[in-house]
Amino acid sequence: MAKKRNDKEIAREGIASEIDAINLYEQMAKETNDERVKKVLLDIAKEEKTHLGEFSSVLMREDTAQRKEIEAGRKEVKDIESADAFSKKKKKAKK
Ligand SMILES: [Fe+2]
Repeated sequence: MAKKRNDKEIAREGIASEIDAINLYEQMAKETNDERVKKVLLDIAKEEKTHLGEFSSVLMREDTAQRKEIEAGRKEVKDIESADAFSKKKKKAKK
């Protein structure tokens, strides 16, 4: 019998599955020529995004280290974007 997953692992696997589903339905929506089918697929993809949020919420509750790393990642992106915006502003000022 397979090893029983803990709640962090269940949440991570759920997140991975929801992301795959979102990508699949959005790709299918691009491929179809039928606007009604496209609309259904995009609606389903939106529902999968809600599911992603639910699993993410469980993971954030269950995995404190992960929550801290996500916050660290957000800060790093913010810093990179701020530096980029500063650099662009500086270039514009030179012109
Ligand atoms: Fe789902």
